[in-house]
Amino acid sequence: MKALPLSRPFAVRLPWPLPALLAWLAAGSAWRLLDGGVFALAIGIVISGAAALAWPGIGRWRRLLIGAGFPLAVLLHALATGALPAWAWLLPCALLLLAYPLRAWRDAPLFPTPPDALTGLQALVALPAGARVLDAGCGLGHGLQALHDALPAAQIEGIEFSRPLALVARRRCGFARITRGDMWRQDWSGFDLVYLFQRPESMARAAEKAGRELRPDAWLASLEFEVPGVQPSAVLRSVAGKPVWLYRARLSQRRAVPELTQPPRGAAAGFCRRLGVLFGLSDRSTAAQRGR
Ligand SMILES: C[S@@+](CC[C@H](N)C(=O)[O-])C[C@H]1O[C@@H](n2cnc3c(N)ncnc32)[C@H](O)[C@@H]1O
Repeated sequence: MKALPLSRPFAVRLPWPLPALLAWLAAGSAWRLLDGGVFALAIGIVISGAAALAWPGIGRWRRLLIGAGFPLAVLLHALATGALPAWAWLLPCALLLLAYPLRAWRDAPLFPTPPDALTGLQALVALPAGARVLDAGCGLGHGLQALHDALPAAQIEGIEFSRPLALVARRRCGFARITRGDMWRQDWSGFDLVYLFQRPESMARAAEKAGRELRPDAWLASLEFEVPGVQPSAVLRSVAGKPVWLYRARLSQRRAVPELTQPPRGAAAGFCRRLGVLFGLSDRSTAAQRGR
């Protein structure tokens, strides 16, 4: 007998934020009905956690909101009614700081590389088998996984500042060698490609480090954020809105943006001059200057 098609679950059709409101209402009602003790709190957390995990058709940030909303509301309530001392707020903050130290947050918040963002990378960088590839700031390991998929013959390594994130990445990516540490203090000289998914503000510093430490034929790859004022050697566009900018470590081996061939003036002068010196362009700039 032919199976009847199942109707789409009711939950899928609910517009956001109704799923969150319903989950919090269910958790809050259970908590009140059970007299608001520790057991009631545990039941409420189970209800909102189950809704966060099982609600169909919503993204991970909404799941996080559904799961975290109820315990946070109970914490606020306990603080407001004096059931907890005011310093109790510090506990979740301390846990957050432990998981995600300030330095890591300042350099780049935790956003994962989309799974297909690096598809086609090998065709552009043509790395030999056994090439060493680093994800600088590897977070939970999504970039490591994408690199492993795109460059299966490469040795994948990661460095991550946050201890808990590095631990999770190690568990998730058994194929990669992951160290806990500061990527700015790490020596990049042995790598054939350094991959970054950081912040626009970090890119000039990353280019400077790559220019100083990487071999001339090595690559610097950056998801989403370009090195300011530098023409990439290639761009990979596998996922819409997430270009991967690819730079040979020495800019002198590729075409530079026209501004760098002229001595820059004004506020950007120091920055451009630094990039020029870094990538061996300062001579050309000076020559152009002398010839004028
Ligand atoms: C946007 S996430 C990218 C995660 C991963 N690369 C990916 O693409 O899935 C940036 C990561 O860099 C880490 N990070 C930031 N500054 C760092 C530093 N100085 N040293 C090591 N890791 C750092 C952060 O903790 C965060 O996990």
